[in-house]
Amino acid sequence: MLRAGTPSSDVHLDEDDDPRAFHLGIERDATLVACVSFSPQLLLDRPGVDAWRFRAMAVDERHQGEGLGRVVLLAGFDRLRARGVPLVWAKARDTALGFYERLGMVVVGDGFVDEATALPHHVVVREPI
Ligand SMILES: CC(C)(COP(=O)(O)OP(=O)(O)OC[C@H]1O[C@@H](n2cnc3c(N)ncnc32)[C@H](O)[C@@H]1OP(=O)(O)O)[C@@H](O)C(=O)NCCC(=O)NCCS
Repeated sequence: MLRAGTPSSDVHLDEDDDPRAFHLGIERDATLVACVSFSPQLLLDRPGVDAWRFRAMAVDERHQGEGLGRVVLLAGFDRLRARGVPLVWAKARDTALGFYERLGMVVVGDGFVDEATALPHHVVVREPI
């Protein structure tokens, strides 16, 4: 799902090996149907801020539109807020910008084409979380 229709099928991220990273998912009938991964990563425009980034946000296409994306992402935001993290950000594909805006994120900066997916993206930020 994460890489469907893109040139890359590699869903391993370097940040997966960061011991501070955490990964959230939702299971239905013992099958993973939603996922997202969080790790600490500075936002270039805000070098002095303890920022975390999330990646690999995806919901099984058979379960999209059921609110699972919202549940798994807000669960991550809750954890960051509880740790006192002030800012969370992501590189969002343009087709998903409306989803992130519904969850209180703001689009910042110019659009760009992501290397792995070759899809147009923007950075989205939520601050405070
Ligand atoms: C984008 C994605 C994660 C959304 O997950 P989801 O479970 O379908 O979203 P939800 O049902 O939780 O939707 C939450 C809200 O966002 C809205 N929304 C969901 N996807 C949207 C989209 N692509 N554009 C605009 N709004 C969207 C919903 O209508 C809902 O609005 P509401 O507050 O009025 O109810 C999912 O569609 C997906 O995995 N897409 C393919 C992979 C992808 O694009 N991942 C993001 C990479 S940056």
